[in-house]
Amino acid sequence: MNSTLAERLLPQLIAAARNAREQAYAPYSHFAVGAALLDEQGRIHAGCNVENAAYPQGLCAEAVALGQLVLAGGTRVLAAVVAGDAAQPVTPCGGCRQKLREFAASDAPVWSADSQGVTARHTLGELLPASFGPDHLGPR
Ligand code: THU
Repeated sequence: MNSTLAERLLPQLIAAARNAREQAYAPYSHFAVGAALLDEQGRIHAGCNVENAAYPQGLCAEAVALGQLVLAGGTRVLAAVVAGDAAQPVTPCGGCRQKLREFAASDAPVWSADSQGVTARHTLGELLPASFGPDHLGPR
């Protein structure tokens, strides 16, 4: 079976997400998260969560990684890895699912990983079914 670019780059995506997680600023939750995104040029962009004393102002790792991708000129998210250590696989929060949906197709893989390896694989469409997106804003 042909493996996709995302599958071939999975080890690098996991490493990038884990490295980003090391930089997490999470003094309130103590829950460090790293994210890595694969863009349409085959480049990897990473981010970590950045919390704030005004709690709702904190940024998720995925949002920071998306900013990095856009800043670098990326326009599509082909795949994502979220790295965190928890009893269950760490998947993107609801808001980040919507943020990813702006740039990713519903079949884009979203892998969860911890320090041991991959803990889950979902598609974005599984995580955010029947989603609202840019097409809704176009002509009917
Ligand atoms: N967090 C992320 O950065 N990404 C996720 O996918 C889940 C949650 C962060 C937000 C907050 O800084 C901490 O994890 C605890 O919720």
